[in-house]
Amino acid sequence: MSIEAYYALCAQLGLTQGIPYTPQWSAAPDFLQLIVDHVLTDKPQTIVECGSGLTTLMLARACALNGGGHVYSLENDADYAANTRSEISRYGLNEYSAVLHAPLIPRTIHERNYRWYDVSQLSVQDIDMLVIDGPPGFIQQHSRYPALPLLLEYMKDECTVFMDDAARPDEMEVVAMWQTQYRNTTHTYLALERGCAIVQIRRSR
Ligand SMILES: C[S@@+](CC[C@H](N)C(=O)[O-])C[C@H]1O[C@@H](n2cnc3c(N)ncnc32)[C@H](O)[C@@H]1O
Repeated sequence: MSIEAYYALCAQLGLTQGIPYTPQWSAAPDFLQLIVDHVLTDKPQTIVECGSGLTTLMLARACALNGGGHVYSLENDADYAANTRSEISRYGLNEYSAVLHAPLIPRTIHERNYRWYDVSQLSVQDIDMLVIDGPPGFIQQHSRYPALPLLLEYMKDECTVFMDDAARPDEMEVVAMWQTQYRNTTHTYLALERGCAIVQIRRSR
């Protein structure tokens, strides 16, 4: 990972007063560049992300550059949510982002039990971009699997999903599970530093 790549992205976005970066937890620069480019090019209006931090700040800044769009970030850790909120405020981006403290609660999907974000505070029906960078993998097997089954009902008919860390075996299995269950979706794998799975949702109602 090159620190210069972070600096270049910060310069592009005008985030020159420091960023909430932690080596093991922050998204890698190539993933950040990918999601920022998507926001700047496709101009999604309702972005939901799982796992707040540097991604939230950069997505919100990209929305500000577009003059529209909003990032709803689901964060299970109250302290981490507060930290991300303070970074968003420091850069004057409250208009473009809400960090929702969403504790992990029990959910059963296809007779398997998971702990996943409590989305009761999420009042959107038109998600057109979803970024998945949580919950952390150590919590359970297939930690990121519930994102699609539990958020599908809140998505627009067309939605682009970006899942970080897709080079890991656990995330590969998650993508395979989605592929089996959602046959009207398109999957693309990008060999980024940690791998990225892009899923295009296209539904006809
Ligand atoms: C991969 S991190 C999310 C990173 C975020 N998208 C970013 O780019 O900065 C997933 C989750 O791990 C947790 N987390 C982040 N930093 C942590 C740390 N230093 N120690 C423990 N948990 C952490 C937070 O709850 C976060 O939502």
